[in-house]
Amino acid sequence: MIISNQVKSTQHSCVVGLQWGDEGKGKIVDVLSAEADIVVRYQGGANAGHTVQVGDREYIFHLVPSGILKEGTACIIGNGVVIDPRALIEEFDGLLENGLDHEANIMISDRAHVVLPYHGALDEAKESASEDGKIGTTLRGIGPCYTDKASRIGIRMEEFVDPDRFRERLTRIADLKNRELESLHGREPIDAASVYEEYSAYADRLRARVCDVTAYLHEQDSLGANILFEGAQGALLDIDMGTYPYVTSSNTSFLGLGAGTGFSARKVGRVLGITKAYTTRVGEGPFPSEMDDEAGESLRQAGAEFGATTGRPRRCGWLDIVALRRAIQFGDVDAMVVTKLDVLDHLDVIKAAVSYTVDGVETDQFPASVDCEIIPHYRSFPGWLESTAECRSFEQLPEKARQYLQFVADAAGCPIAIVSVGKERTQIVTLEPWLEPGAGGEGD
Ligand code: IMP
Repeated sequence: MIISNQVKSTQHSCVVGLQWGDEGKGKIVDVLSAEADIVVRYQGGANAGHTVQVGDREYIFHLVPSGILKEGTACIIGNGVVIDPRALIEEFDGLLENGLDHEANIMISDRAHVVLPYHGALDEAKESASEDGKIGTTLRGIGPCYTDKASRIGIRMEEFVDPDRFRERLTRIADLKNRELESLHGREPIDAASVYEEYSAYADRLRARVCDVTAYLHEQDSLGANILFEGAQGALLDIDMGTYPYVTSSNTSFLGLGAGTGFSARKVGRVLGITKAYTTRVGEGPFPSEMDDEAGESLRQAGAEFGATTGRPRRCGWLDIVALRRAIQFGDVDAMVVTKLDVLDHLDVIKAAVSYTVDGVETDQFPASVDCEIIPHYRSFPGWLESTAECRSFEQLPEKARQYLQFVADAAGCPIAIVSVGKERTQIVTLEPWLEPGAGGEGD
């Protein structure tokens, strides 16, 4: 119904962020999950924060796929996700408190890695070690857990739910980690015995949820199920393609899907990339179109730009077309969803960065280095200065808002499928057919 046109080959879809996270994926996944039988998370961990507003209730998910709100949707946590059992169980309990007894709908990959207390302790120790090397992480132990995965000393879910193997591995690895914590960082060691006691209770609760989700996905695909994959964070935080080292530790874009699920990305018919109508970022790292001034503050207030996971104020800036084009390209994005258009309603001038001067050279490409000087060049648009919150069709949007959206499609070289104009599920403008680049008659 919502995005029925231009399906390549199958009905499976993937939703990814095109910026530095917090693009509003939770709401879009929640809306699209109306059509999905299965919703899958494939990377990241409890560093993510997906907010979904239903009526006057706000749900924030960190690990559980946003599709959990729909009864009967199977929610899968793939092998590419790093799972903090304590955070996951807190989320289960939060759902129960809201009357949503959907825990049995969750399946967790037996190959997913487990985030343990020494990961959080190391994340915190490394971040506070020096201002210079600071990434501004969420302190959830994500980087240290993926480091252990790559170093082949991680503990996976299948081992975690096997008491004897878990105890043996935890004792051995905690010893290694304690040496690092104590001698390198001057921190208190972790008491492996008490971690075991606490975490084996979590393992007891999660055991029935752990299975071979790859086999399940393939089986359901062959039975004709509709699968929705949900990327966490945003493309510019991708460990390979993002603003390294100011990135998270996984492939946040479409690139992570295959490796994070064991389900081929070639089977996914449609990739939707989510972008805000402007840009935000939390943590350190380059942000060429940042507005470190009153205009930025006004966006932060209007858009309630405070982190869902850490509560940190988000850095705010104009839409960056150079960065957006790059994310669309490496993420093989079929269409964009533009969120939070309503946050621009009060502005008399709206800008978008269309090219850069990088170390004195004009370019329309995003640089690899984070140490260069980037001067963004903007194009300005007149604001529409009226509320879009009640608009439910493209025609109902103010003309200047339509022109801005057409510019975004033209400049990014990618159609727009959906525009979001508020927090509520219903505050959505579906573009059927999609708003194509060049459709306004005067391409950028
Ligand atoms: P980590 O993922 O906690 O290691 O943090 C690495 C970087 O990714 C930091 O700049 C975080 O602020 C950022 N980050 C991680 N998760 C999110 C998210 O869900 N939204 C926005 N930024 C995130």
